[in-house]
Amino acid sequence: MKQMHLGAFMRPVSIHTAWWRHPDSAPEANFSLKHLVHCIQTLERGKFDSFFMADHLAVLNMPIEALKRSGTVTSFEPFTLLSALAMVTERIGLIATASTTYDAPYHIARRFASLDHISAGRAGWNIVTTSNPDAARNFGMTEHMDHAERYARAREFHDVVTGLWDSFAEDAFIRDKDSGVFWDPARMHKLDHEGKYLSIAGPLNIARPVQGWPVIVQAGASDSGRQLAAEVAEMIFAAGGPIADARAYYADIKSRAAKAGRDPGLIKILPGALVTVAETDEAAAKNARYWIALCIPIAAWARFPSRSAPTHAPSTWTRRSPTSTRPIKARAAATACWNARGAAS
Ligand SMILES: Cc1cc2nc3c(=O)[nH]c(=O)nc-3n(C[C@H](O)[C@H](O)[C@H](O)COP(=O)(O)O)c2cc1C
Repeated sequence: MKQMHLGAFMRPVSIHTAWWRHPDSAPEANFSLKHLVHCIQTLERGKFDSFFMADHLAVLNMPIEALKRSGTVTSFEPFTLLSALAMVTERIGLIATASTTYDAPYHIARRFASLDHISAGRAGWNIVTTSNPDAARNFGMTEHMDHAERYARAREFHDVVTGLWDSFAEDAFIRDKDSGVFWDPARMHKLDHEGKYLSIAGPLNIARPVQGWPVIVQAGASDSGRQLAAEVAEMIFAAGGPIADARAYYADIKSRAAKAGRDPGLIKILPGALVTVAETDEAAAKNARYWIALCIPIAAWARFPSRSAPTHAPSTWTRRSPTSTRPIKARAAATACWNARGAAS
C-alpha cells in the first residue's frame, strides 16, 4: 500500500516571510524554544516523518525595505536547536542544513554523528553549497566561490564526510573491563583523503553514527545541483511548480541516477506545498497559536529499504557499499557494510 509521508520545512517556524503578521501568531516564535517544542511534538503526534531546519550563513541579501518585514530574517543555528528538540521527541527525523562551501568536513561529520547519537538515529543532512555571496565575508573570505566550483567541491566533500562516518566499525568499542581494552584498533579506518579541494586525514573521533550514515538530503535545481542530488541524495527537496515541470524534474533526476549507477527507486523526491496549520485544541492554541509550514511529502524516513551505493570513489580509498536500513535497525547492517569496506581496502 502506498503511503504519503510528510516533512515540515521549518525556519524555524515557517518559510513564509509574513507568518508573524497573522492576528493569532506568536511573533516571537523563532527564538522561543517552548513554541518550537510544541511545534515538533504536534508534528510527531500528527505522524510527520521529519522536521527540517533550514540554515543560511548571512542575513538574506534582499532590499532592506523588504527585509525589515520578513519573519525569516533570523533563526536558530540548526544543530543546537535539533539537539534540544531530540530530547523531547522519539520518532521524528531531524534534518539540518550544513554548507559544503563554508564549513569543514570534519566539523560537519562530527556534528551529524553527534546528532545521530543524541537522537538515537534520526539525523539527516541537507547538503547545500550556499548561494548568498554575503556569507563569504562572514567567514574571513573576500570572494564567494562560483557555482560550478561550489558543486565540484560539494561532491568531494560528501565523500569525505561519509568516509569519516565510516571511521569506526560498529563493534569497534569492546569496552572489556577485565583486559582493560576499550576499543579494537583493527576496527578503525583512517581516511587519508587527498583530493582537489580537500586534504583530510581522519579518523573521526566520534563512534559510528547509529544509522551508519545519517540520511543525505539535497535540493539542487541547476544542472550541477541536480547531478549532485542524483549521485548522492536519498531524499530530494523540490520546489514544486507546475505539474509538467515537476514531472520533468523527477524524470531527469531518476535518469541521472540510473546513469550514475544507482537504483533510482531509492531516491525519494519530495515536492513542496505551502500549507496553513490552525490549532484545533484551544489550550494548545493559546500557547502556540498559529504557525505555517512548507510541508513536503516525504518517503518513509524510517522505512528506506537500503542505502544507495555512492558512485564516485576517490582513488585513495575504497568505499563501502552501504546497505543499512534505518533508523535504529541500521546497526547490524552497518557493521556488515563496514566489514565489506574494510575487506576491500
Ligand atoms: C526545500 C528547499 C530547501 C532549501 N534549503 C536551503 C537551506 O537551508 N540553505 C541554503 O543555503 N539553501 C537552501 N536551499 C537552496 C538549494 O540548496 C539550492 O541552492 C537551490 O535550490 C538552487 O539550486 P542550485 O544550487 O542547483 O542552483 C533550499 C532549496 C529548497 C527547494
